[in-house]
Amino acid sequence: MSFRRRNDPIQRPLVHTGHVRCLAPGAYDWDMLEKVDLAEKLSLFDEHWSPKIVAELNDAYVKVVKFQDEFVWHHHDDEDELFLVVSGRMRMELRDGDVVLEPGELIVVPKGVEHRPVAEVETHVVLIEPKTTLNTGNVRNDRTLDELDRI
Ligand code: NI
Repeated sequence: MSFRRRNDPIQRPLVHTGHVRCLAPGAYDWDMLEKVDLAEKLSLFDEHWSPKIVAELNDAYVKVVKFQDEFVWHHHDDEDELFLVVSGRMRMELRDGDVVLEPGELIVVPKGVEHRPVAEVETHVVLIEPKTTLNTGNVRNDRTLDELDRI
């Protein structure tokens, strides 16, 4: 547990800010507050194009993935997808042109837009996308992953 729970023996009272949905200590999911070390998560696997879930919020998952070489052209009917490059360098190919992403840069591919990620060197990426997102979108082939590991 990386998030340290306060050790106060006295339960802290609710802070009355006028925001009625403020939760009292102990009334929420502490696991959600556990910090995620991206480098540590990325050290746990080697395979390419196999996203792993590392967190979730609202109706979305946060995933880490390693890209190398090229993926398949696809689109997602209902989901926007965020790609944030942590290390390496990738090119998001779009039918209208390419976008090159360096570490610290991100792109959001809107729903319905055809795309193909390509990485000439191994590239580590964070994805944020709705839980319903299938990695190959509208395409079903040997790279499709129906179940993702949570690490
Ligand atoms: Ni996609």
